[in-house]
Amino acid sequence: MMTRRQAGAGILAGAALAAAPPMAAIQELKPIELPSPHMQGGMPLMAALKARRSVRDYSDRSLTPQVLSDLLWAAFGINRPGGDRTAPYWRHVMVIDILVSMADGVWLDEPAAHKLLPYLQADIRALTGLQDFVATAPLNLIYVAHGERMRDISAQDRRLYASVDAGFIGQDVYLFCASEGLATVFRGAVDYPRLERALKLPDQQFVTFAQTVGYPRT
Ligand SMILES: Cc1cc2nc3c(=O)[nH]c(=O)nc-3n(C[C@H](O)[C@H](O)[C@H](O)COP(=O)(O)O)c2cc1C
Repeated sequence: MMTRRQAGAGILAGAALAAAPPMAAIQELKPIELPSPHMQGGMPLMAALKARRSVRDYSDRSLTPQVLSDLLWAAFGINRPGGDRTAPYWRHVMVIDILVSMADGVWLDEPAAHKLLPYLQADIRALTGLQDFVATAPLNLIYVAHGERMRDISAQDRRLYASVDAGFIGQDVYLFCASEGLATVFRGAVDYPRLERALKLPDQQFVTFAQTVGYPRT
């Protein structure tokens, strides 16, 4: 079992905090406006399923803004007028934020605006996992759960349902990557306390999983 923080620790403590990025750390970091995602095309579903796999050897080639936008839309973008998403989520409560960790810093995905909001001005890619490739792959997604939004259930169930939400997003990412010729791996081998400290997460929030995305080293 990973060294992740006990599910209940902190979740029940204190009032619910907003998902405010740590402001002191983001003065230099600018929002990134992404192009509108392409919501059509790609590989036929059965072909993408056939190609889906985990990859652990990445080139340092970056994703273009368009590919990043398409990736984030596939992951957990808005696909209906009411604001619902490409992945199902627990009780219609928006629990998961996607943090995007790149060489220049960490951003918070804002799906409605197709924008990345500054979160942390630091290259923390190496802290997103226990495997060497995470430090140099261009992109690591971090699926952060808002425990404070999951009311009336036990700490154990918060961990369970948030993890399932993240798993669905992870599979969307797998299929998008298969379709686009990108490489990815969903990851639970994470030093959770260390990563949560680096992200300065409030007590009620916790990291569920991380997922590396990039181009395969050929
Ligand atoms: C919950 C979960 C956690 C995982 N954690 C890791 C991980 O930390 N590191 C890793 O390299 N792969 C991780 N994987 C990927 C699995 O090892 C991989 O899916 C499995 O070996 C099957 O290979 P495939 O995805 O290529 O079919 C994880 C997968 C899941 C579903």
